[in-house]
Amino acid sequence: MSTATSLLKQHLQQRKLQGKTHVGLRPGTMEKLSGLGRPPAARAISEPEPLRSFAAAPAPVARPLHEAPPPETKKAELLEVAGVTLEEKLAALRTMAETWEPALSMNSLRKTMVFAVGSPLASLMFVGEAPGAEEEKLGEPFVGPAGQKLTAIIKAMGLDRPKVYISNICKFRPAMDNQGSGNRKPEAAEMKVCLPFVLTEIDLIKPLVIVALGATAAEGLGIPGAVGSLRGRFHSTSGIPTMVTYHPSYLLREEKTGDGIRAKRAVWEDMLKVMEKLGLPISEKQRGYFQAK
Ligand code: URA
Repeated sequence: MSTATSLLKQHLQQRKLQGKTHVGLRPGTMEKLSGLGRPPAARAISEPEPLRSFAAAPAPVARPLHEAPPPETKKAELLEVAGVTLEEKLAALRTMAETWEPALSMNSLRKTMVFAVGSPLASLMFVGEAPGAEEEKLGEPFVGPAGQKLTAIIKAMGLDRPKVYISNICKFRPAMDNQGSGNRKPEAAEMKVCLPFVLTEIDLIKPLVIVALGATAAEGLGIPGAVGSLRGRFHSTSGIPTMVTYHPSYLLREEKTGDGIRAKRAVWEDMLKVMEKLGLPISEKQRGYFQAK
């Protein structure tokens, strides 16, 4: 049994012992969920997204990839998250994360949980490190300066932010002395306690491609190394092609103090590979972004 499965099963069993047999949904979630549940359709990332229902057996999803789908072993990681529709399962997962004792009892993490954002039907999933000050304030990942950079990258790919799925390895902002607006990277142990969540999100969303933003996110997903040596080719997370690229914060730093164009070009080359993998159209203009004159 995977770590993700056993940790969350343990959590559910604990709740059951406490007489809690249901995972609570946020107020208004049921109202939002009623009216959802159109049957799934074959999709391409550029098409409008239908909402997928788990009530009926899901129809096969068209994969514009030349590769075999993720191996069956991936299913072993699927958690028994309470809920019928995909949206309900994600809502239940969010509720579990909010009260995730292994993280809350770590004094090195702050207590506000910041979950993921985006489409449950996304073909493309970005994974960052951990929320920072602005993310903690607004309760959404990647909304600060690095988030604006990420949103610009998504737009340059011809996509809309709400159509992709954006998550973090660590769901809580790492604490610091005299924190103020300061942020730090999560430590390995901090990522480990939250890992079941991102793995379950991957199992539920089943993206066609994952992009790990920076070496910390890559390490959290089990792809250790420096971005410089990992980027430019696909790795695998639960059988899903995973591109490692520079974190948007690195781009911001390089713009100020280093070779901003070189860093942007590297990220863009990686995103072109991601677009190719997803079967997205690529214009001449897009191909030419950040090329040496
Ligand atoms: N950096 C991250 O890795 N994640 C966020 O949510 C924000 C900044």
